[in-house]
This record gives sequence, C-alpha cells and structure tokens, in this order.
Amino acid sequence: MAKVLVFANHKGGSGKTTTSVHTAFALGDRGFRVLLVDLDSQAHATLYAGMLPYKVSRGIFEALCAFVEDGVVMKEVIHKSFCFDLLPSSEELGGFEAKFSSFPRREAIVKNFLLEVEKEYHFVLIDTPPSLGLLTLNALVSGDFLIIPVKVDFLSLAGLAQMMRTLYRVNAYFNPELRLLGVVPTMYDGRTRVAKEVVRQLQENFGKEKVFLPIRQDVRLMESPSFGQVVFQYAPHSRGAQDYQAFVEEVLQRIGENG
Ligand SMILES: Nc1ncnc2c1ncn2[C@@H]1O[C@H](COP(=O)(O)OP(=O)(O)OP(=O)(O)O)[C@@H](O)[C@H]1O
Ligand SMILES: [Mg+2]
Repeated sequence: MAKVLVFANHKGGSGKTTTSVHTAFALGDRGFRVLLVDLDSQAHATLYAGMLPYKVSRGIFEALCAFVEDGVVMKEVIHKSFCFDLLPSSEELGGFEAKFSSFPRREAIVKNFLLEVEKEYHFVLIDTPPSLGLLTLNALVSGDFLIIPVKVDFLSLAGLAQMMRTLYRVNAYFNPELRLLGVVPTMYDGRTRVAKEVVRQLQENFGKEKVFLPIRQDVRLMESPSFGQVVFQYAPHSRGAQDYQAFVEEVLQRIGENG
C-alpha cells in the first residue's frame, strides 16, 4: 500500500504546491515510485510538472466523474513527468463541489479512486487548494500523513488553529489514521526577527518534533517553474534545492522509510 501524504493549508500562497512538487521529484529521484495528484483547479502542480492545464482534456476531474458515474478507473489520465507520475488537474475541477455536494459519501470519492491506483506506488502525494472545501476534505480523508506548509509571517499563524480543528474532525468522523507529520516553515528569511519568532511560536504550539527545518526564501524557487524545471534541475546548488533535499530526508526519517 502506498503511503499517502497530503499537503494542505487553507491559507493561499503558503508553499503547498512548491513543497509537494519538490517532494515528488526528490522521492522519485531516490527510486521511489511516486504519484503526484493535483487536487487544485488552479492546476499549479500540473503546470510545474510541465503540462499545460488547458491541454488537459482528461484529468483528475474527468477520472473522478467516470469512477463515480460508471465505476471506470481511467488510468490513462496518469502521465509521466520528470521522475514521478502526475494526475493532472484543470479548471474543470472547480466544478467538483457543485457536482458532488449531495452525493452520499462525497468525502471519500478521491480515497476510493486512489485505492484503485495506489498499489503501483510507494507514495501518493496530494496537492490541495487554498480552502477547506470538499476537495481538501477528500484529500484529508485519503491521507496517512498531513504536512502543513506555513509561510513564515504572523498572519499565517492565525489560520493554523482552524487547520488543526479540521484535522481533529477528520480524525473523529472520517479518517482516524491521518496524522500530522509536521509543519514546514516556508519562505523563511533568517535575517528577520519575525521569521525566527514565527518558527519559535510554531515549535511552542506544535512541539519541536513536529516542526521541520525551514525552507529558506529563494528566488530560484520562484524562477524555476517558468523554465519548466524544478529547482533541483534549474539551480541544484541553490538554497531551495538544499532545503528541499533536507526536507525530504526528514520526511523519510519521520515515516520510517530510511535505510
Ligand atoms: N521558499 C520560497 N522562496 C521564494 N519563493 C517561494 C518559496 N516557496 C514558494 N515560493 C513562491 O511563493 C508562491 C506561492 O507558493 P506556492 O504556489 O507553492 O503556494 P501554494 O500554497 O501552493 O499556493 P495556493 O494556495 O495558491 O495553491 C509561488 O510564486 C512560489 O514560487
Ligand atoms: Mg498551490
């Protein structure tokens, strides 16, 4: 069975997509079989992984519809990208909530679909949208581990209590297996007091063992997608590349997959 890692934070621009794409690449590069599921209709992970969302004629939305309506598993929607597989998204996924809001067990649609494809993978990674709507709920219901990327500013801290309440609710009602693997501070600028203070508060609130080493702010991480590359390819010696390699090592250690 694959281990399912969910990257979620309803606050926009917290580093979910950047973290999930680099984790997919770094795990794939280490020889693990990885499926990255883009569960956001913004389709940024799809774009990052080299596919143009408007060219995705059949992606996650069409696959989920076919699965729910006809019981068909459209494996052909999965594409090879870099050293991992991608289940791409497109604007159409924005219609998921309206289409399935009154469907029985609507929170488990993605989980039931993934059960059909995950056998081929060591890891399934899910990138989620900046909301706590039905898509994010589906991701959390599918997950074994939750990773919360947090941009290090004070406003980011405010939303974390709601994120944790969501985790407890999912644990209580839908998925007792899901556990917090950790919070990863992103866009960290060590020259500022505020960055250090935010990390200190995260450690105080979550416990030191739940806070990953920070991903430093790095312009290379912003630039790399415009060249159709991840930062490991675009700038392999950059801070971003070093920090995401260290992050993935920490992920493997925490879930006991090292060595
Ligand atoms: N460590 C970093 N240093 C500099 N820029 C970064 C870093 N991490 C992410 N970014 C940039 O910040 C922006 C937001 O990152 P990203 O898209 O990963 O966040 P997100 O949480 O997925 O956003 P959304 O909520 O819209 O899905 C992007 O432009 C990205 O390139
Ligand atoms: Mg995103």
